[in-house]
Amino acid sequence: MCGVVGLFVGCSAVVTCPRDSLLRTDTASQPLEEGEGEAGAQAYRSPFTTWFERSAVRRTPRRILDDVGPGELFPAELVPIAGHPLVRELPPGEFAQVLTQHAYRYLDFTAKLEHLVVNRTALGIAHGTIGVRVHEDMRFDAYKIYCDEAYHALFCADLIRQIERTTGVRPRLDRHPYLLRRLAEIRERVGPRLAPLVEIMFVICSETLISATLAESSADTRIAPAIRESIRDHALDEGRHHAYFVAFLRVMWGQLDPTLREQAVALVPELIMTFIRPDLPGLRDELLGYGLTPDQVEQVLAETYPDHVVSAYARETAAQTVRYFTELGAMDSERIRAEFLRHDLLKEVLV
Ligand SMILES: [Fe+2]
Ligand SMILES: [Fe+2]
Repeated sequence: MCGVVGLFVGCSAVVTCPRDSLLRTDTASQPLEEGEGEAGAQAYRSPFTTWFERSAVRRTPRRILDDVGPGELFPAELVPIAGHPLVRELPPGEFAQVLTQHAYRYLDFTAKLEHLVVNRTALGIAHGTIGVRVHEDMRFDAYKIYCDEAYHALFCADLIRQIERTTGVRPRLDRHPYLLRRLAEIRERVGPRLAPLVEIMFVICSETLISATLAESSADTRIAPAIRESIRDHALDEGRHHAYFVAFLRVMWGQLDPTLREQAVALVPELIMTFIRPDLPGLRDELLGYGLTPDQVEQVLAETYPDHVVSAYARETAAQTVRYFTELGAMDSERIRAEFLRHDLLKEVLV
């Protein structure tokens, strides 16, 4: 957010803005030297050694959508609201739209997550502006992540355009997605000292969660081939990102003082749920657009996403991410453990 002097005073990107910190020369922007810093930094094994040969942006062709109808992108079984009787009873043309809008929502969410959230952190690591000192190789790998995520956003935007052209269904998308609104609210609530950590911790969570969700879908042959192939391309890249952000978490953990560390990890359960919870406001608007009454819409949402279903899905999807924090000793704190339990992300073990 730069270019016009004065217009972006107070810009939220300032923390990760490379221009801001390239003008400063504090030690936090210097790479860790060999033998310096935490063991995690010294032991960094780059997951990107074959990136130039294997990343999607360098290796894969553009994915072209076949001539499909609006209901042939995602099978109804993969679109949770499509399983509800009130949605199944919609006229066939509108039911097909429900499936198409699901594809749009997924692709748009991904594009915005990559561009507006993950890449801000990648940029901050690449330019040493994030306040965490990392090994030079880790910093260089952030440039590769930045390219990967930009390409993921591009192929999602490309598919949205192809779907619209092929099916004639207009996307109903929120210009200010739920995810970004929630992150802004959390940043606001925690105040200026912790706000920069909100986004970093969110990226660590989402980058270690996303590979599991993508791997699941990339093998599903009921998804239209171009979408399925793009999900597979994405999943292979995200496997590398997952390993990277686990390493980054360990380095960062070693550099936070105990108070800040506890404050940062206390945010994790809410951030995991921010990533996993369905976009209810977006779904509400969409369902109202098909002519369902407000009561019917609330019924569909309540019965499709009861708390226990959302919790069980979150616990399963986030298990690996929660394990990383456990391995770092985060659950030794009663307060942190209680926070994870409160969000239903841990099973209470009775001894
Ligand atoms: Fe990605
Ligand atoms: Fe990623």
